Amino acid sequence: MTAHRALLLVTVVTATLLGTALGASYTVGAPDGSWDLKTNYTQWASGVRLYAGDQLRFQYSAAEHNVVEVTKSGYDACNGSNNTVATYQTGNDAVPLAAAGTRYFICGVSGHCAAGMKLQVNVSSPPVSSPPQQQCRWKGGKRRCNWSVSPSSSASAAVHADRSTVLWLRLAAVLAAGLVLLS
Ligand SMILES: *[C@@H]1O[C@H](CO)[C@@H](O)[C@H](O)[C@H]1NC(C)=O
Ligand SMILES: *[C@@H]1O[C@H](CO)[C@@H](O)[C@H](O)[C@H]1NC(C)=O
Ligand SMILES: *[C@@H]1O[C@H](CO)[C@@H](O)[C@H](O)[C@H]1NC(C)=O
Ligand SMILES: *[C@@H]1O[C@H](CO)[C@@H](O)[C@H](O)[C@H]1NC(C)=O
Ligand SMILES: *[C@@H]1O[C@H](CO)[C@@H](O)[C@H](O)[C@H]1NC(C)=O
Repeated sequence: MTAHRALLLVTVVTATLLGTALGASYTVGAPDGSWDLKTNYTQWASGVRLYAGDQLRFQYSAAEHNVVEVTKSGYDACNGSNNTVATYQTGNDAVPLAAAGTRYFICGVSGHCAAGMKLQVNVSSPPVSSPPQQQCRWKGGKRRCNWSVSPSSSASAAVHADRSTVLWLRLAAVLAAGLVLLS
């Protein structure tokens, strides 16, 4: 492999890793359940914090269930027929949560929503990350400094970086790959 090709490969892999690391995926009902008749989805939803850019994954037997995204009235009435946003039925469905807001899902199989297969989730805007700040202190006659990240932009902010950052990183990676090919 030539040096150019190696560099190109590294660039593409890095861009891919950056892209996939920036949105979390949550399997509905996990770890104790899935999309089934036993799980308490009110309880499950209260235990996850969802941000725009994340995704929900519904895993179930396609012969027994499906997933219907509905409006609030469809959720409240447990009736998707006049309130359907989208229908999924593969048994392993990824639902992107692109924007902040409330989303409603029910099982469209007769009686299953009433039996508890209904999920309401609130999606938040990604926390805004602030740049690290240098902190300095006099200790033992010497000035000691470190770079610290403010509490509001700790681990979760790093994961949920602004989507535009991802796009810029990808664009930069594509441009770099192009330059490598041309040189
Ligand atoms: C589901 O969990 C919520 C919150 O923990 C609780 O209030 C509710 O009674 C539970 N529902 C059922 C059907 O057990
Ligand atoms: C979502 O937000 C609504 C309104 O603010 C609230 O009533 C509901 O309990 C929230 N649901 C979850 C799962 O946090
Ligand atoms: C669901 O709603 C539709 C129209 O809004 C209605 O015709 C149908 O009977 C309802 N189904 C159930 C099970 O309530
Ligand atoms: C379906 O929903 C629309 C808009 O919400 C409403 O105007 C219409 O009457 C509904 N139809 C039935 C059968 O419920
Ligand atoms: C370095 O950062 C830590 C944690 O953010 C902080 O507790 C500590 O005081 C900082 N040290 C200095 C010299 O500012």
